[in-house]
Amino acid sequence: MNISVRQGSLAEVECDALIINLFEAVKEPGGGTGAVDKALGGAIARQIAEDDFEGKLGKCMIVRPSGAFPAKKVIVVGLGKREDFGNVELLKASAAAGRKARKIKAVKVASILHGAGIAGLPSFDCARAVALGTILGTYEFTRWKTENGKPNPIETFEIVELSADKIGDIQRGIDRAQIIGDAVTFTRDMINEPSNVVTPAYLADVARTIAKDNGLTCKVMDRKEFEAAGMGLYAAVARGSSVEPKFIELRYTHPEAKKTIALIGKGITYDTGGYSLKTTEYMVNMKDDMSGAAAVLAAMSSLGAIKPKVNIVALVAATENSIGPNAIHPGDVVKSLGGKTVEINNTDAEGRLTLGDAAAYANNIGVDEIIDLATLTGACVTALGREIAGILGTDQKLIEQLIAAGKSCGETMWQLPLFMDYKEQLKSDVADLKNTEKGGAGATIAALFIHAFVGDTPWAHIDLSSALIDKDRPLAKKGGVGIGAGTLIEYLASYL
Ligand code: BES
Ligand code: ZN
Ligand code: ZN
Repeated sequence: MNISVRQGSLAEVECDALIINLFEAVKEPGGGTGAVDKALGGAIARQIAEDDFEGKLGKCMIVRPSGAFPAKKVIVVGLGKREDFGNVELLKASAAAGRKARKIKAVKVASILHGAGIAGLPSFDCARAVALGTILGTYEFTRWKTENGKPNPIETFEIVELSADKIGDIQRGIDRAQIIGDAVTFTRDMINEPSNVVTPAYLADVARTIAKDNGLTCKVMDRKEFEAAGMGLYAAVARGSSVEPKFIELRYTHPEAKKTIALIGKGITYDTGGYSLKTTEYMVNMKDDMSGAAAVLAAMSSLGAIKPKVNIVALVAATENSIGPNAIHPGDVVKSLGGKTVEINNTDAEGRLTLGDAAAYANNIGVDEIIDLATLTGACVTALGREIAGILGTDQKLIEQLIAAGKSCGETMWQLPLFMDYKEQLKSDVADLKNTEKGGAGATIAALFIHAFVGDTPWAHIDLSSALIDKDRPLAKKGGVGIGAGTLIEYLASYL
């Protein structure tokens, strides 16, 4: 989909579908919608009354213009209540309108800039939300469908704006949305691909391509190398699978950088649980256990376009968590890169093991800040459901920056407590630490385990409870959501 801005009037654009809008309970359309209504001799106002169209958020009404109107069809999308309207509503309305346009097989689409004229919503934000909502709302993963695999893609999408002085901001908003939209699409694709495609070697190949396209350096360690380097926690998880694990390191540097950020993504390409085996019901979606890695890789793939003034190291300790003749047993004790020993009392708490060694590796490099993204706990899903990700850590300012970055692209995060008193619970009878304890607060306990390896480095941890959904939502169809990529890109863009 090619997204652009055009200066002119909505009533003069030739297209298959023209998208305009209506706030809830408005009978007489105003603004751009009013202008289109006037050009159509009041046809829109008449149909609003006839159809009882209420303008509820994301509901659409189709108007078929008569006469010489240049748009073949008009889509009126509901924006919901004016007093509730903000960035997220804008994203949702744009997604719904985009889906409707595709459903009526529109190839050439034009749209009003929803939200323009609402106080406190700059043109940049409106354009970013309209373009991003359209990209996210029309995403589909059809690679494995041999029938009906090409669902009427929209080819061109033009945002139409009258005033010349807004065009620059709108174009910048579109550019940002395109970068984030590409990254989220890429993340979703990687999550939606099954684990027999997305293996650790596949992720390593993806990283090499990203490095080549964005001027980054890429280093990949295989099993022998990271075992020799002392990553005993990660190696313990990887032992259960004959599918080769890969430790992936991508580096981006900027000559004016004042700090180095480590981005760590959980890259379990399939989580069976190991000998602490999951039940069928809990295993079925576990191809999504590399969602953190996918978001980190996708964010790295945007660096050539955003060029932030900061150094970035991305780390993914990619492996399957499987059972096999060499797999670890519950109760085994292993040594971490940082030197601490860990009793693995549950092999299904594997993510924190791989992240612990990756965090110690980041500290050995000497980074100023660590952000990790991981589908780490079912407890976080229980606490927050599948629309909100959990965020915890030691750097409150960083946590708040990440929450704000997420808000601007429809990724909702909620802070959970890193309650230090619970660290006691991770004491082991036989080793320095154990990897699980059943006392409740599972998301906090998991984060506290990682904290033991992060040390004093400022740190934020995002528990991706919303990585994969099994019901359609306004901004994502069922399947991989791709949460995290947008948050990281918006955060990194603050270093421009
Ligand atoms: N990948 C899972 C966490 C998960 C499960 C995320 C379901 C999203 C949905 C993780 O490796 C895991 O299995 N965690 C265990 C930890 C437990 C053994 C302490 C869990 O949450 O059940
Ligand atoms: Zn697990
Ligand atoms: Zn897992």
